[in-house]
Amino acid sequence: MDQPEILPLLRDRRSVRAYDGRHELGDAELASLLEAARWAPSAGNSQPWAFLVGRRGDAAHDAFVPLLAPSVRRWAPAASALVFTLHRTASGPEEDALVYSDYAAYDLGQAVALLTVQAGALGLSCHQFAAFDHAGLARAAAVPAHWQVTTGIAVGLAVESELAPRTRRPMGEVAFGARFEEPLAL
Ligand SMILES: Cc1cc2nc3c(=O)[nH]c(=O)nc-3n(C[C@H](O)[C@H](O)[C@H](O)COP(=O)(O)O)c2cc1C
Repeated sequence: MDQPEILPLLRDRRSVRAYDGRHELGDAELASLLEAARWAPSAGNSQPWAFLVGRRGDAAHDAFVPLLAPSVRRWAPAASALVFTLHRTASGPEEDALVYSDYAAYDLGQAVALLTVQAGALGLSCHQFAAFDHAGLARAAAVPAHWQVTTGIAVGLAVESELAPRTRRPMGEVAFGARFEEPLAL
């Protein structure tokens, strides 16, 4: 079967490492990205996500950059913004089981996916990363104990660079019929 059609925004998305170091993320663009995340679905509408945002040149960005692992520090600081993602791991310092959900990490991932697609619609690129000092960020940003620092996202304007081909596991390994690993007839 030929490659199935998907939205060009999804087809063309990729985690770039070459950003335009002069591009600035405006307030309206940043608000639009965060608004897309805010409207993600979540278990019981618990919305168990939060974001820490630094734009290149501001104090938050200056505080974030030293926390990046060397592998990420090579490319992420040139992006227009660094966004760190958090999800809630307990209802709060006091017991209040209503807002806590076992699906918090799942919900955060979904919110980030929407942010990423919104970025694509604005002509921007995101590169998510896990290689940074999570505990250091939690300390620096005074993150409460019932929130878990999860990932970082570099957001900015991609510049042309040599890009390796993207690869994915074949559809037959990820989508099944009635039983696990039973091929789906498509
Ligand atoms: C949770 C998560 C953690 C990641 N951590 C890193 C990282 O630390 N460094 C990095 O260069 N890329 C990281 N990535 C990017 C992935 O390597 C990338 O999404 C994957 O190779 C697929 O490439 P694509 O996004 O261009 O399709 C991470 C992505 C996710 C979702």
